[in-house]
Order: sequence, then C-alpha cells, then structure tokens
Amino acid sequence: MKKIALVAQKGGVGKTTIAVNLAVAAQGAGIQTALFDLDQQESAVIWSDRRASEQPHVEFLTERRLAEALRAAEAQGFGLAIIDTPPAAGPQAYTAAQAADLVLIPCRPSLVDLDAIKRTAQLVKSAGIEAFVVFNAAAPGATTLLEDAAGIVRDAGLAVAPVVLRERSAYRAAWPVGKAVVETEPKGKAAGEISELIKWIFAHLKVCTPDVVK
Ligand SMILES: Nc1ncnc2c1ncn2[C@@H]1O[C@H](COP(=O)(O)OP(=O)(O)O)[C@@H](O)[C@H]1O
Ligand SMILES: [Mg+2]
Repeated sequence: MKKIALVAQKGGVGKTTIAVNLAVAAQGAGIQTALFDLDQQESAVIWSDRRASEQPHVEFLTERRLAEALRAAEAQGFGLAIIDTPPAAGPQAYTAAQAADLVLIPCRPSLVDLDAIKRTAQLVKSAGIEAFVVFNAAAPGATTLLEDAAGIVRDAGLAVAPVVLRERSAYRAAWPVGKAVVETEPKGKAAGEISELIKWIFAHLKVCTPDVVK
C-alpha cells in the first residue's frame, strides 16, 4: 500500500479538496483507497457523510493512531492511503509526512502562500520524505506567475509537481454534494487535471492500476 500525505502550514490552500478528489480518482482507477483525516475540523469526513457511497473509505484519526490504521488498511487490501492534515506544522503534519511515501504540498501561486512554504519545507525536510509542491487554484493563463512561483519553491529546496490545478468552479460545486470533479463533470477541465495528477502519482510511486496491467 502506498501512502500520500497532504501537508501545508497554511489553511485554505486546497489540501482537503485535493485529498478527496485524488481519493475518488484513485478509487475509480481500481485502487482501493482510504482517506485518513487528521484534521479536527473533519472536513473530509463531513464531505464523505454527504456521499451516497462507502468508497473511498474516509475516517478521522488522531496522529497517535495513524501507524496502526495504516497497517490495518494494508492488511485489508487497500492499495492507497491518502492522509489529510490540519493547517499547521504540528504533530499531525509531521506524523503524516513521516508515514508517507510521497508528500504533496498544495500552494496557491501567490506571494502570501509562497512565504508560508518555507516552514512547510523545513517540516518535510526534517521528516526526510520526498515532497512536491502542487500549485493549486492558479488563475487561468497565469504562466509567468507560475514560473516565478516555481523558482521560489525550488529556492526553498522543494520540487514542483508537473501538474498544475487551476482555479475552477467545479471544485467548489462538487464539494457540498460530497462528490469529486471526476464524478460531477467527468469531461471538464478540473477532472482532466485531477486525472493527470493521479496518473503522475501512480507512475511516480509505481502503483499498477488494473488498466495498466491490462
Ligand atoms: N482549484 C480550486 N479552484 C477553486 N476553488 C478551490 C480550488 N481548490 C480549493 N478551492 C476552494 O478553496 C477553499 C479551501 O480549500 P480546502 O481544500 O478546504 O483547503 P485546506 O484543506 O488546505 O484548508 C474551499 O472552499 C475550496 O472549495
Ligand atoms: Mg482541510
């Protein structure tokens, strides 16, 4: 079972949005997926409660119980665990990063968010795990800004994921009905971005989906 942690010092950058959308996309690709919510606000759990589906499996946990829950999920045959964390460089984020094979750091390509990235960079470096910044909610067409933002991220010692998620209303519209963009607008641009991101993650972590095996 592969494990991905979503970590960022800052709130409102898209950790939970990306966590639930990746979880549904991975499940849709035939990978049994569990989403562990370490945020006391339980946003992912509330989203899941609105779904008319048990999949992906979503569960609130304290960081103390994470290792045990990951072991249990692996024993039950889950192929992927996604760990959502609260907006702080606290024990939840640190424990999640340490447990993960891959850390994703969502970040809006704005100077306010880029300033906050330095502390998140320190956290993932101290956990010693491979981490990528995922630019999220980027204004459509803001190419120069993205290039500058990528430069700042690399200077902070972090890598940049090759897929950028743009500011799109589809993400906000899917949320209150407990859905993901690949379900509400499967042919839309947001769904295309999420599919690209999960494909890149699968390739990076060497996850074989049933499609790939075929
Ligand atoms: N790419 C995006 N396009 C449009 N809205 C977004 C996007 N990503 C996140 N949002 C919105 O931003 C807000 C904060 O996102 P959320 O995932 O809750 O952040 P976090 O978990 O980091 O606090 C939510 O209202 C969400 O719908
Ligand atoms: Mg959140």
